[in-house]
Amino acid sequence: MKILIVDDEEISRTILFSKMAHMGTCVAVNSAKAALAELDKAQTKKHPFDVITLDVSMPGMGGQELLEHIRKKEALDKIPKNDRVKILMITARMNLGTINACIKRGCNGYLTKPVTQVQLIQSLSQMGFEPAIAEKNDQAGISYNAGVAEIIKRFYSGKIRLPVFPSIVKELEALLADKDPCVDDLAKIVEKDLLISGKLIAIANSSLYKGLDDVDSLNGALVRLGLKHTLGVCSALATRNLFDSENDALKTEMDALWVHSFAVATLARRLAQEKGFDNLESIFLMGLVHDIGKMLLMKVFVDMYPDVCISDKDLQLVIHEIHTTFGGVLLKKMHFSKHFIKIAEFHHWEQSEDNTDKELLVVSLADSLASELGFGFFSKKDENNTKFEEGDLYLEINDEFELDHDKIMAKLSSLSTLNFLGLDPEKVFSIIAQIHPMIKETSRAF
Ligand SMILES: [Fe+2]
Ligand SMILES: [Fe+2]
Repeated sequence: MKILIVDDEEISRTILFSKMAHMGTCVAVNSAKAALAELDKAQTKKHPFDVITLDVSMPGMGGQELLEHIRKKEALDKIPKNDRVKILMITARMNLGTINACIKRGCNGYLTKPVTQVQLIQSLSQMGFEPAIAEKNDQAGISYNAGVAEIIKRFYSGKIRLPVFPSIVKELEALLADKDPCVDDLAKIVEKDLLISGKLIAIANSSLYKGLDDVDSLNGALVRLGLKHTLGVCSALATRNLFDSENDALKTEMDALWVHSFAVATLARRLAQEKGFDNLESIFLMGLVHDIGKMLLMKVFVDMYPDVCISDKDLQLVIHEIHTTFGGVLLKKMHFSKHFIKIAEFHHWEQSEDNTDKELLVVSLADSLASELGFGFFSKKDENNTKFEEGDLYLEINDEFELDHDKIMAKLSSLSTLNFLGLDPEKVFSIIAQIHPMIKETSRAF
Protein backbone atom coordinates (compact mmCIF):
# COMPACT_ATOMS: atom_id res chain seq x y z
CA MET A 1 0.00 0.00 0.00
CA LYS A 2 1.37 3.43 -0.94
CA ILE A 3 0.29 6.16 1.48
CA LEU A 4 0.54 9.95 1.34
CA ILE A 5 0.14 11.83 4.62
CA VAL A 6 -0.74 15.51 4.27
CA ASP A 7 -0.75 17.59 7.45
CA ASP A 8 0.79 20.94 8.31
CA GLU A 9 1.27 20.01 12.00
CA GLU A 10 4.45 18.11 12.61
CA ILE A 11 3.09 16.15 15.58
CA SER A 12 0.09 14.85 13.66
CA ARG A 13 2.28 13.93 10.71
CA THR A 14 4.66 12.02 12.94
CA ILE A 15 1.82 10.19 14.72
CA LEU A 16 0.21 9.14 11.45
CA PHE A 17 3.55 8.13 9.99
CA SER A 18 4.43 5.98 12.99
CA LYS A 19 1.03 4.28 12.94
CA MET A 20 1.06 3.53 9.21
CA ALA A 21 4.75 2.96 8.43
CA HIS A 22 4.41 -0.82 8.77
CA MET A 23 1.37 -0.89 6.47
CA GLY A 24 3.23 0.11 3.34
CA THR A 25 5.30 2.92 1.82
CA CYS A 26 4.53 6.22 3.54
CA VAL A 27 5.35 9.71 2.31
CA ALA A 28 4.53 12.65 4.62
CA VAL A 29 4.27 16.28 3.48
CA ASN A 30 3.29 19.51 5.24
CA SER A 31 1.17 21.35 2.65
CA ALA A 32 -1.27 20.91 -0.20
CA LYS A 33 1.36 22.27 -2.59
CA ALA A 34 3.89 19.62 -1.57
CA ALA A 35 1.13 16.98 -1.82
CA LEU A 36 0.35 18.01 -5.40
CA ALA A 37 4.04 17.74 -6.28
CA GLU A 38 4.13 14.18 -4.82
CA LEU A 39 0.99 13.23 -6.73
CA ASP A 40 2.49 14.52 -9.99
CA LYS A 41 5.67 12.60 -9.35
CA ALA A 42 3.73 9.42 -8.65
CA GLN A 43 1.70 9.87 -11.83
CA THR A 44 4.82 10.38 -13.95
CA LYS A 45 6.35 7.24 -12.47
CA LYS A 46 3.05 5.40 -13.01
CA HIS A 47 3.08 4.32 -9.37
CA PRO A 48 0.07 6.10 -7.88
CA PHE A 49 -0.82 6.41 -4.21
CA ASP A 50 -3.48 4.07 -2.81
CA VAL A 51 -4.42 6.20 0.18
CA ILE A 52 -4.12 9.86 1.15
CA THR A 53 -4.74 11.08 4.69
CA LEU A 54 -5.70 14.72 4.42
CA ASP A 55 -5.78 17.24 7.24
CA VAL A 56 -8.90 19.40 6.87
CA SER A 57 -7.44 22.68 8.08
CA MET A 58 -4.12 23.74 6.63
CA PRO A 59 -2.89 27.23 5.78
CA GLY A 60 -3.06 28.08 2.06
CA MET A 61 -4.99 25.41 0.20
CA GLY A 62 -6.96 23.50 2.86
CA GLY A 63 -7.85 19.82 2.92
CA GLN A 64 -11.30 20.27 1.39
CA GLU A 65 -9.95 22.25 -1.55
CA LEU A 66 -7.20 19.73 -2.15
CA LEU A 67 -9.77 16.90 -2.00
CA GLU A 68 -11.91 18.66 -4.59
CA HIS A 69 -8.89 19.37 -6.77
CA ILE A 70 -7.79 15.71 -6.73
CA ARG A 71 -11.30 14.43 -7.54
CA LYS A 72 -11.71 16.90 -10.41
CA LYS A 73 -8.37 15.90 -11.88
CA GLU A 74 -9.25 12.20 -11.64
CA ALA A 75 -12.51 12.89 -13.47
CA LEU A 76 -10.65 14.85 -16.18
CA ASP A 77 -8.10 12.05 -16.52
CA LYS A 78 -11.04 9.61 -16.85
CA ILE A 79 -9.74 7.37 -14.06
CA PRO A 80 -12.35 4.66 -13.36
CA LYS A 81 -14.14 5.13 -10.00
CA ASN A 82 -12.66 1.97 -8.45
CA ASP A 83 -9.11 2.99 -9.31
CA ARG A 84 -9.33 6.43 -7.70
CA VAL A 85 -7.19 7.13 -4.66
CA LYS A 86 -8.92 6.57 -1.32
CA ILE A 87 -8.96 9.77 0.71
CA LEU A 88 -9.29 9.79 4.48
CA MET A 89 -10.01 13.22 5.96
CA ILE A 90 -8.50 14.01 9.35
CA THR A 91 -10.16 16.73 11.41
CA ALA A 92 -9.26 18.32 14.71
CA ARG A 93 -12.89 18.84 15.75
CA MET A 94 -15.95 16.65 15.56
CA ASN A 95 -17.90 18.88 13.25
CA LEU A 96 -20.70 17.28 11.25
CA GLY A 97 -20.96 20.16 8.78
CA THR A 98 -17.31 19.80 7.77
CA ILE A 99 -17.65 16.05 7.38
CA ASN A 100 -20.78 16.35 5.26
CA ALA A 101 -18.98 18.86 3.03
CA CYS A 102 -16.04 16.44 2.66
CA ILE A 103 -18.37 13.55 1.83
CA LYS A 104 -19.98 15.67 -0.89
CA ARG A 105 -16.54 16.44 -2.30
CA GLY A 106 -15.75 12.73 -2.49
CA CYS A 107 -13.78 11.61 0.58
CA ASN A 108 -13.91 7.92 1.50
CA GLY A 109 -13.71 8.28 5.27
CA TYR A 110 -12.94 10.62 8.13
CA LEU A 111 -11.29 10.50 11.53
CA THR A 112 -10.75 12.98 14.33
CA LYS A 113 -7.45 13.70 15.98
CA PRO A 114 -5.80 12.10 17.84
CA VAL A 115 -6.02 9.22 15.39
CA THR A 116 -5.46 5.74 16.82
CA GLN A 117 -4.13 2.56 15.27
CA VAL A 118 -7.45 0.75 15.51
CA GLN A 119 -9.36 3.66 13.96
CA LEU A 120 -6.96 3.62 11.02
CA ILE A 121 -7.37 -0.13 10.61
CA GLN A 122 -11.16 0.23 10.77
CA SER A 123 -11.18 3.00 8.13
CA LEU A 124 -8.75 1.26 5.80
CA SER A 125 -10.61 -2.06 6.09
CA GLN A 126 -13.85 -0.24 5.31
CA MET A 127 -12.18 1.07 2.14
CA GLY A 128 -11.30 -2.48 1.11
CA PHE A 129 -7.65 -2.68 2.19
CA GLU A 130 -6.15 -5.33 4.44
CA PRO A 131 -3.82 -3.26 6.60
CA ALA A 132 -1.09 -5.08 8.53
CA ILE A 133 -1.41 -4.92 12.31
CA ALA A 134 1.52 -3.82 14.48
CA GLU A 135 1.93 -6.28 17.34
CA LYS A 136 2.31 -5.01 20.86
CA ASN A 137 1.33 -7.02 23.91
CA ASP A 138 -0.83 -5.58 26.66
CA GLN A 139 -1.26 -7.01 30.15
CA ALA A 140 -3.44 -9.90 29.05
CA GLY A 141 -0.76 -11.29 26.78
CA ILE A 142 -2.60 -10.32 23.64
CA SER A 143 -2.64 -6.87 22.14
CA TYR A 144 -6.05 -5.25 22.44
CA ASN A 145 -5.32 -3.30 19.28
CA ALA A 146 -4.37 -6.45 17.43
CA GLY A 147 -7.41 -8.29 18.82
CA VAL A 148 -9.86 -5.61 17.76
CA ALA A 149 -8.09 -5.22 14.41
CA GLU A 150 -8.50 -8.96 13.85
CA ILE A 151 -12.23 -8.64 14.56
CA ILE A 152 -12.48 -5.80 12.06
CA LYS A 153 -10.73 -7.88 9.40
CA ARG A 154 -13.03 -10.84 9.99
CA PHE A 155 -16.05 -8.56 9.97
CA TYR A 156 -15.18 -7.03 6.60
CA SER A 157 -14.43 -10.41 5.08
CA GLY A 158 -17.87 -11.65 6.16
CA LYS A 159 -16.59 -14.09 8.78
CA ILE A 160 -18.57 -12.68 11.70
CA ARG A 161 -22.17 -13.67 12.17
CA LEU A 162 -24.39 -10.62 12.25
CA PRO A 163 -27.01 -10.18 14.97
CA VAL A 164 -30.47 -11.18 13.76
CA PHE A 165 -33.63 -9.30 14.60
CA PRO A 166 -36.69 -11.53 14.94
CA SER A 167 -39.12 -11.06 12.07
CA ILE A 168 -41.85 -9.98 14.48
CA VAL A 169 -40.52 -6.40 14.48
CA LYS A 170 -40.82 -6.11 10.70
CA GLU A 171 -44.29 -7.73 10.75
CA LEU A 172 -45.49 -5.25 13.37
CA GLU A 173 -44.05 -2.34 11.43
CA ALA A 174 -45.95 -3.50 8.36
CA LEU A 175 -49.14 -3.79 10.40
CA LEU A 176 -48.75 -0.30 11.82
CA ALA A 177 -48.25 1.09 8.33
CA ASP A 178 -51.73 -0.29 7.52
CA LYS A 179 -54.68 2.06 7.63
CA ASP A 180 -56.76 0.49 10.38
CA PRO A 181 -54.77 -2.00 12.39
CA CYS A 182 -56.65 -3.53 15.32
CA VAL A 183 -55.65 -5.33 18.51
CA ASP A 184 -56.73 -8.72 17.11
CA ASP A 185 -54.33 -8.37 14.17
CA LEU A 186 -51.66 -7.40 16.64
CA ALA A 187 -52.37 -10.42 18.86
CA LYS A 188 -52.06 -12.78 15.87
CA ILE A 189 -48.52 -11.58 15.20
CA VAL A 190 -47.37 -11.36 18.81
CA GLU A 191 -48.73 -14.81 19.81
CA LYS A 192 -46.39 -16.48 17.33
CA ASP A 193 -43.34 -15.36 19.30
CA LEU A 194 -43.58 -17.13 22.65
CA LEU A 195 -40.58 -15.42 24.17
CA ILE A 196 -41.91 -11.97 23.40
CA SER A 197 -45.58 -12.59 24.16
CA GLY A 198 -44.57 -14.21 27.45
CA LYS A 199 -42.89 -11.05 28.63
CA LEU A 200 -45.42 -8.53 27.36
CA ILE A 201 -47.73 -8.89 30.36
CA ALA A 202 -44.97 -8.19 32.89
CA ILE A 203 -43.89 -5.16 30.91
CA ALA A 204 -47.44 -3.83 30.59
CA ASN A 205 -47.53 -3.94 34.41
CA SER A 206 -44.14 -2.21 34.87
CA SER A 207 -44.05 1.38 36.09
CA LEU A 208 -43.41 2.95 32.68
CA TYR A 209 -46.61 1.55 31.20
CA LYS A 210 -48.69 0.76 34.25
CA GLY A 211 -52.37 1.65 34.52
CA LEU A 212 -54.72 1.52 37.52
CA ASP A 213 -55.06 -2.29 37.62
CA ASP A 214 -52.71 -5.09 36.74
CA VAL A 215 -53.38 -6.85 33.44
CA ASP A 216 -53.14 -10.64 33.34
CA SER A 217 -53.71 -11.65 29.72
CA LEU A 218 -51.94 -11.03 26.44
CA ASN A 219 -54.97 -9.21 25.07
CA GLY A 220 -55.14 -7.07 28.20
CA ALA A 221 -51.45 -6.23 27.80
CA LEU A 222 -51.92 -5.31 24.14
CA VAL A 223 -54.87 -3.06 24.93
CA ARG A 224 -52.87 -1.42 27.72
CA LEU A 225 -49.82 -0.83 25.55
CA GLY A 226 -51.74 0.13 22.44
CA LEU A 227 -50.55 -0.48 18.90
CA LYS A 228 -47.61 1.87 18.89
CA HIS A 229 -46.20 1.01 22.29
CA THR A 230 -46.48 -2.69 21.46
CA LEU A 231 -44.21 -2.15 18.49
CA GLY A 232 -41.71 -0.34 20.73
CA VAL A 233 -41.85 -2.98 23.45
CA CYS A 234 -41.48 -5.83 20.94
CA SER A 235 -38.50 -4.05 19.36
CA ALA A 236 -37.01 -3.67 22.80
CA LEU A 237 -37.59 -7.35 23.63
CA ALA A 238 -36.03 -8.38 20.33
CA THR A 239 -33.06 -6.07 20.97
CA ARG A 240 -32.72 -7.28 24.55
CA ASN A 241 -31.98 -10.80 23.27
CA LEU A 242 -28.96 -9.49 21.42
CA PHE A 243 -27.47 -8.37 24.74
CA ASP A 244 -27.60 -11.85 26.24
CA SER A 245 -24.45 -13.78 27.10
CA GLU A 246 -23.47 -16.95 28.90
CA ASN A 247 -20.11 -15.54 29.92
CA ASP A 248 -20.50 -13.99 33.40
CA ALA A 249 -18.13 -11.04 32.95
CA LEU A 250 -19.59 -10.23 29.57
CA LYS A 251 -23.12 -10.57 30.92
CA THR A 252 -22.39 -7.86 33.50
CA GLU A 253 -21.17 -5.49 30.78
CA MET A 254 -24.04 -6.40 28.45
CA ASP A 255 -26.68 -5.86 31.15
CA ALA A 256 -25.28 -2.41 31.84
CA LEU A 257 -25.11 -1.61 28.12
CA TRP A 258 -28.72 -2.73 27.81
CA VAL A 259 -29.90 -0.44 30.64
CA HIS A 260 -27.94 2.40 29.01
CA SER A 261 -29.51 1.69 25.59
CA PHE A 262 -32.99 1.41 27.07
CA ALA A 263 -32.52 4.68 28.95
CA VAL A 264 -31.37 6.45 25.78
CA ALA A 265 -34.32 5.00 23.84
CA THR A 266 -36.87 5.98 26.49
CA LEU A 267 -35.48 9.49 26.93
CA ALA A 268 -35.21 10.04 23.17
CA ARG A 269 -38.78 8.87 22.65
CA ARG A 270 -40.11 11.13 25.37
CA LEU A 271 -38.16 14.19 24.16
CA ALA A 272 -39.30 13.52 20.60
CA GLN A 273 -42.89 13.31 21.83
CA GLU A 274 -42.41 16.68 23.54
CA LYS A 275 -41.37 18.12 20.19
CA GLY A 276 -44.38 16.57 18.43
CA PHE A 277 -42.32 14.27 16.18
CA ASP A 278 -44.43 11.61 14.51
CA ASN A 279 -41.93 8.73 14.28
CA LEU A 280 -41.67 8.01 18.00
CA GLU A 281 -41.33 4.22 17.68
CA SER A 282 -38.50 4.52 15.17
CA ILE A 283 -36.72 6.97 17.47
CA PHE A 284 -37.17 4.51 20.34
CA LEU A 285 -35.58 1.72 18.25
CA MET A 286 -32.79 4.10 17.19
CA GLY A 287 -31.99 4.66 20.85
CA LEU A 288 -31.98 0.91 21.48
CA VAL A 289 -29.44 0.19 18.75
CA HIS A 290 -27.27 3.34 18.84
CA ASP A 291 -24.41 1.48 20.59
CA ILE A 292 -24.88 -1.81 18.71
CA GLY A 293 -21.29 -1.56 17.47
CA LYS A 294 -20.06 -1.73 21.05
CA MET A 295 -22.31 -4.70 21.75
CA LEU A 296 -21.01 -6.79 18.85
CA LEU A 297 -17.36 -5.81 19.35
CA MET A 298 -17.50 -6.91 23.01
CA LYS A 299 -19.27 -10.17 22.19
CA VAL A 300 -16.91 -11.17 19.42
CA PHE A 301 -13.89 -10.19 21.52
CA VAL A 302 -14.97 -12.53 24.30
CA ASP A 303 -15.70 -15.31 21.78
CA MET A 304 -12.24 -14.99 20.32
CA TYR A 305 -10.29 -14.33 23.51
CA PRO A 306 -12.27 -15.92 26.38
CA ASP A 307 -9.51 -15.26 28.93
CA VAL A 308 -9.47 -11.52 28.46
CA CYS A 309 -11.05 -9.28 31.09
CA ILE A 310 -13.69 -7.54 29.00
CA SER A 311 -14.14 -4.67 31.45
CA ASP A 312 -10.44 -3.71 31.29
CA LYS A 313 -10.34 0.03 30.65
CA ASP A 314 -7.68 -0.16 27.94
CA LEU A 315 -9.77 -2.66 26.01
CA GLN A 316 -12.95 -0.63 26.52
CA LEU A 317 -11.11 2.41 25.20
CA VAL A 318 -10.05 0.60 22.01
CA ILE A 319 -13.63 -0.61 21.51
CA HIS A 320 -15.04 2.84 22.26
CA GLU A 321 -12.81 4.46 19.63
CA ILE A 322 -14.35 2.52 16.77
CA HIS A 323 -17.80 1.56 17.99
CA THR A 324 -19.49 4.36 16.07
CA THR A 325 -18.09 3.72 12.58
CA PHE A 326 -18.27 -0.02 13.22
CA GLY A 327 -21.89 0.29 14.39
CA GLY A 328 -22.80 2.28 11.28
CA VAL A 329 -21.40 -0.37 8.96
CA LEU A 330 -23.03 -3.11 11.03
CA LEU A 331 -26.51 -1.54 10.79
CA LYS A 332 -26.00 -1.07 7.06
CA LYS A 333 -25.21 -4.78 6.71
CA MET A 334 -28.33 -5.52 8.76
CA HIS A 335 -30.36 -3.46 6.26
CA PHE A 336 -31.37 -0.67 8.64
CA SER A 337 -32.29 2.64 7.02
CA LYS A 338 -29.83 5.48 6.60
CA HIS A 339 -31.27 7.35 9.61
CA PHE A 340 -30.30 4.47 11.90
CA ILE A 341 -26.85 4.24 10.34
CA LYS A 342 -26.26 7.96 10.86
CA ILE A 343 -27.18 7.68 14.52
CA ALA A 344 -24.79 4.81 15.16
CA GLU A 345 -22.09 6.73 13.34
CA PHE A 346 -22.50 10.24 14.68
CA HIS A 347 -24.08 10.06 18.14
CA HIS A 348 -20.85 11.22 19.80
CA TRP A 349 -20.14 14.10 17.44
CA GLU A 350 -20.32 17.32 19.33
CA GLN A 351 -21.17 20.00 16.83
CA SER A 352 -24.55 20.03 15.18
CA GLU A 353 -25.93 22.52 12.71
CA ASP A 354 -29.33 23.70 11.55
CA ASN A 355 -29.83 20.91 9.04
CA THR A 356 -28.74 18.05 11.33
CA ASP A 357 -31.38 15.30 11.34
CA LYS A 358 -33.81 15.75 14.20
CA GLU A 359 -33.57 12.03 15.03
CA LEU A 360 -29.82 12.32 15.43
CA LEU A 361 -30.21 15.41 17.62
CA VAL A 362 -32.71 13.76 19.92
CA VAL A 363 -30.79 10.47 20.31
CA SER A 364 -27.47 12.31 20.87
CA LEU A 365 -29.15 14.47 23.49
CA ALA A 366 -30.61 11.41 25.19
CA ASP A 367 -27.19 9.73 25.07
CA SER A 368 -25.47 12.65 26.82
CA LEU A 369 -28.29 12.89 29.35
CA ALA A 370 -28.30 9.14 30.11
CA SER A 371 -24.71 9.33 31.30
CA GLU A 372 -25.59 12.34 33.42
CA LEU A 373 -28.42 10.38 35.03
CA GLY A 374 -26.41 7.38 36.13
CA PHE A 375 -27.27 5.24 33.08
CA GLY A 376 -24.13 5.60 31.14
CA PHE A 377 -20.51 5.81 30.29
CA PHE A 378 -18.01 8.14 31.79
CA SER A 379 -16.19 9.58 28.87
CA LYS A 380 -14.74 12.78 30.30
CA LYS A 381 -11.44 13.67 28.72
CA ASP A 382 -8.39 15.21 30.38
CA GLU A 383 -7.63 18.92 30.14
CA ASN A 384 -5.70 18.50 26.86
CA ASN A 385 -8.71 16.72 25.42
CA THR A 386 -6.48 13.94 24.20
CA LYS A 387 -6.70 11.09 26.64
CA PHE A 388 -9.48 9.51 28.65
CA GLU A 389 -8.98 9.96 32.36
CA GLU A 390 -8.25 7.08 34.66
CA GLY A 391 -11.35 5.03 35.43
CA ASP A 392 -13.72 7.10 33.34
CA LEU A 393 -14.59 4.64 30.65
CA TYR A 394 -16.48 2.15 32.70
CA LEU A 395 -20.09 1.76 31.95
CA GLU A 396 -21.82 2.37 35.18
CA ILE A 397 -25.42 2.01 36.18
CA ASN A 398 -25.70 3.86 39.45
CA ASP A 399 -28.42 2.44 41.68
CA GLU A 400 -28.03 5.16 44.30
CA PHE A 401 -28.31 7.98 41.82
CA GLU A 402 -30.35 10.96 42.87
CA LEU A 403 -31.31 13.81 40.60
CA ASP A 404 -29.49 17.04 41.36
CA HIS A 405 -31.45 19.90 39.79
CA ASP A 406 -28.58 22.40 39.62
CA LYS A 407 -26.07 19.94 38.24
CA ILE A 408 -28.44 18.72 35.55
CA MET A 409 -29.51 22.25 34.65
CA ALA A 410 -25.84 23.18 34.25
CA LYS A 411 -25.35 20.19 31.95
CA LEU A 412 -28.51 21.01 29.98
CA SER A 413 -27.43 24.58 29.37
CA SER A 414 -24.11 23.35 27.97
CA LEU A 415 -25.76 21.12 25.35
CA SER A 416 -26.15 22.73 21.95
CA THR A 417 -28.52 19.94 20.84
CA LEU A 418 -31.10 21.40 23.22
CA ASN A 419 -31.04 24.71 21.35
CA PHE A 420 -31.19 23.04 17.98
CA LEU A 421 -34.26 21.12 19.11
CA GLY A 422 -35.77 24.22 20.69
CA LEU A 423 -36.30 22.49 24.05
CA ASP A 424 -36.63 24.45 27.28
CA PRO A 425 -34.10 23.19 29.92
CA GLU A 426 -36.63 23.38 32.80
CA LYS A 427 -39.14 21.39 30.78
CA VAL A 428 -36.49 18.79 29.98
CA PHE A 429 -35.62 18.58 33.66
CA SER A 430 -39.23 17.93 34.58
CA ILE A 431 -39.42 15.16 31.96
CA ILE A 432 -36.26 13.61 33.36
CA ALA A 433 -37.57 13.80 36.91
CA GLN A 434 -40.77 12.09 35.82
CA ILE A 435 -39.31 9.16 33.89
CA HIS A 436 -35.99 8.65 35.64
CA PRO A 437 -37.26 6.27 38.35
CA MET A 438 -39.21 4.23 35.80
CA ILE A 439 -36.35 3.64 33.41
CA LYS A 440 -34.35 1.35 35.65
CA GLU A 441 -37.30 -0.64 36.89
CA THR A 442 -38.76 -1.14 33.43
CA SER A 443 -35.42 -1.89 31.77
CA ARG A 444 -35.04 -4.85 34.13
CA ALA A 445 -38.48 -6.23 33.20
CA PHE A 446 -37.17 -7.01 29.72
FE1 LIG B 1 -21.80 5.37 21.87
FE1 LIG C 1 -24.46 5.45 24.16
